[in-house]
Amino acid sequence: MTQKTLLVLATFAVLTTDAAAQTSTAAPVDPNAFLNQFEATFGKFDGYRRSGAKGICAAGEFVGTPTARALSTASVFSGRTIPVVMRFSVGGANPRAADNTKSQRNMALQFDLPDGEQWQMGNISAPVFGASTPQQFLGRLVSLQPDPATKMPDPAKVKAFADVNPEVLLQGRHFASQPVPASFGSVNYWGVHAFGFVDSSGTRQYGKWVFEPVGGVEGLTDDEAKAKGPSFLFDDLRQRVRAGRVAFQFNLELAQPGDRIESATVPLPEGRRKVNLGTLKVISVAEDGGGPCLTITYNPMVVPKGVEPSSDPMIAARAAPYAVGLGRRLTEGAKQQ
Ligand code: HEM
Repeated sequence: MTQKTLLVLATFAVLTTDAAAQTSTAAPVDPNAFLNQFEATFGKFDGYRRSGAKGICAAGEFVGTPTARALSTASVFSGRTIPVVMRFSVGGANPRAADNTKSQRNMALQFDLPDGEQWQMGNISAPVFGASTPQQFLGRLVSLQPDPATKMPDPAKVKAFADVNPEVLLQGRHFASQPVPASFGSVNYWGVHAFGFVDSSGTRQYGKWVFEPVGGVEGLTDDEAKAKGPSFLFDDLRQRVRAGRVAFQFNLELAQPGDRIESATVPLPEGRRKVNLGTLKVISVAEDGGGPCLTITYNPMVVPKGVEPSSDPMIAARAAPYAVGLGRRLTEGAKQQ
């Protein structure tokens, strides 16, 4: 599915869900309600992240471009080498999720900037998220909760929710349209939210970013995926990084006046100018489940001066559930694999 098709579907979705959105945006979602619902829907795996449970720490280096410096005063774009605490993961709450399925991959980043400043972000292998508001996301999770009798989601409930919130299906359609990623290092990772980039005169340019593998996107055929088995991504990443083969271009699609920038389910219109903000190179990968990423939540509200969240309600809505999630997994004994 092209980004344009996604956009059309998403626009349709917005038009058709106006009434639902009006009733649902009123009340904020209690972060504990979110965490409880993650556990009810996807299971509880003590010590692990409730989302992106199967993951590994890595270290990277980022160097920004003059183009980025013209767009934003953020020190991350100074052109000097910036250390990055990285985490690659497979989507979902199950720490034993299979690597060889058409599902989500994540790349979470913490740029450690001068004077203790940080930039955190969690990027996903789809141009859209599975919901546009926190209330809609919670509703979707409720609709997917397994029925106690069958231990499976009730198809009627799933359909009833998706019928009035059709944009929740866009992300799944993207994954179904793509091959199984051959590597954590060979798939695009989108930020899905718009952020503002503020230059030295105070001018704010909104955009949505994507990290694109320097070596190109690489997928597996169904037979290759089957042959790889359920757990190949960590070793693959170690090997590729040892060979110096994993790097990403940090690219920003620039929004134009009138573009919708407040929704994680609506990409920018196709053909928007894309500029290169810099290159991120992965320099090492943890040999086990430890490492500095273990206790980071990758909260998208942690941005450097010169970068600002847009009005997308999902950005701020992530902060509290991530903190509550960290609290739960620290209490249980934080781990990952
Ligand atoms: C209100 C909406 C959301 C909720 C409640 C939520 C919840 C969570 C939770 C509880 C975690 C685990 C945090 C931890 O224990 O450190 C997580 C991780 C993650 N989320 Fe979300 N999330 C939301 C929206 C999003 C969106 C829109 C994206 C799209 C970019 C996203 C991408 C990720 C990624 C990439 C991770 C794994 C990061 C890592 O490696 O630690 N989430 N989310």
